[in-house]
Amino acid sequence: MNTTHNIPRRQFLKDSAVLGAAVGLVPNLLGADSSSAASFKGGKIRVGEIGCGSVSGSYLPNLTSQPFIEVVSVCDIIVERAKKRAEKFKVPNVYSNIDDMLAGAPFDLLVNTTSMPSHFPVNKKALQAKRHVWSEKPIALNLKDGKELLDLAKRNGVHFWGSPTCVTSPQFKFMVDTMNSGKIGKVTAAHGTYGHGGPGWSGWFYQKGGGSLYDLGVYNVTTFTGLLGPVKEVVGMTTIINPTRKVEDQGVVKVEADENTMLIMNHGNGVLSHVQTGFVYFDGERFAGEGRQLYTIDVTATKGTMHMQGWDWGPSGVDVAREGEAVLETFCKDPGQYNWVGGATYVAQCLLTGNASLITPEHALHVLEVMNACHESQRTGHRVNVETTFKWPIFS
Ligand SMILES: NC(=O)c1ccc[n+]([C@@H]2O[C@H](COP(=O)([O-])OP(=O)(O)OC[C@H]3O[C@@H](n4cnc5c(N)ncnc54)[C@H](O)[C@@H]3O)[C@@H](O)[C@H]2O)c1
Repeated sequence: MNTTHNIPRRQFLKDSAVLGAAVGLVPNLLGADSSSAASFKGGKIRVGEIGCGSVSGSYLPNLTSQPFIEVVSVCDIIVERAKKRAEKFKVPNVYSNIDDMLAGAPFDLLVNTTSMPSHFPVNKKALQAKRHVWSEKPIALNLKDGKELLDLAKRNGVHFWGSPTCVTSPQFKFMVDTMNSGKIGKVTAAHGTYGHGGPGWSGWFYQKGGGSLYDLGVYNVTTFTGLLGPVKEVVGMTTIINPTRKVEDQGVVKVEADENTMLIMNHGNGVLSHVQTGFVYFDGERFAGEGRQLYTIDVTATKGTMHMQGWDWGPSGVDVAREGEAVLETFCKDPGQYNWVGGATYVAQCLLTGNASLITPEHALHVLEVMNACHESQRTGHRVNVETTFKWPIFS
């Protein structure tokens, strides 16, 4: 999300809010075997964060400012990065690999902010060691591995969640409520966009297992599957525009992963949505800042439309047009306690309270399958069926 290191974030994204009052926590229990404050030492969730690169600089201020979280360890294969984070955020234990981390200072929740190709092996080891896991997206690179992780979590009686957090924003909830109210008629189509010029710090973004769809399009795919329901079939095209890229950690790298992606999803009942995403886009981040109106999510219905202001991971309002009204009206400007970087904090709260999470592993697995169907469609030239599903509607 830090598309460049020097673009200031919107102020509210910097707030390290306690998500206790977060929109979206619903009062159903996680299950009969759900954990409660009593099962966690000192009534706190002990966190170990692995992957101390760019995004850890946003996660750690959030995690370390929560009264109900204790960050006990940090880990990175480039151990200097972990040491730097430990020093800055006063984390007592530093490790250079997942095995030592799991064998070291005890913790309850692993926060996985490693590079995308490392998500599956790291998640797997942590689940095998019976730790709850919050993983950055995607949870794995292929469906088989993703399923294995969900099965493993179930077998070992631990919880597993994948980023992003879009479905917990008040603006997402507002869109769902507006659709359900019937005020805009029947939703028929939707369009989402998320792109920038591409990360400049790590080569893996452009190599096998990287790409704009997994890194950026994943937000829109999560939003649209959450809003419009599970996808039945996918058509996609991807391209590479730059044969090579220059990045901070590896110098010049060959671009192997998608830089420019178009994805069409069929949600059933005649509803279609479309996502465009890329690492070859004019960097619109500053235009989507607080108080600005860049639309990234547009929903079209038979009697009206909805347009999300700002990115779906950090929205700043929803404009609604309705039959018989001559102006777009803006709603839901207030982000409340929502924070794109607060996913691990949100699930820690769920662990403590036993509340169900709006973010579910089945949804993350479905999003992974949809993204891979896009790649398969590009490879084969065919439309691709999607088999997984998840509990939808999300709010019930
Ligand atoms: N950078 C952002 O603003 C941002 C925003 C939202 C989500 N994300 C997601 O967060 C994840 C990380 O992104 P990033 O930009 O921080 O990447 P990064 O390359 O800056 O950092 C990844 C770190 O993980 C470490 N790592 C890789 N494999 C490891 C392993 N097996 N064990 C321990 N450490 C390992 C690397 O050494 C590196 O320091 C990605 O999934 C990305 O999509 C990033």
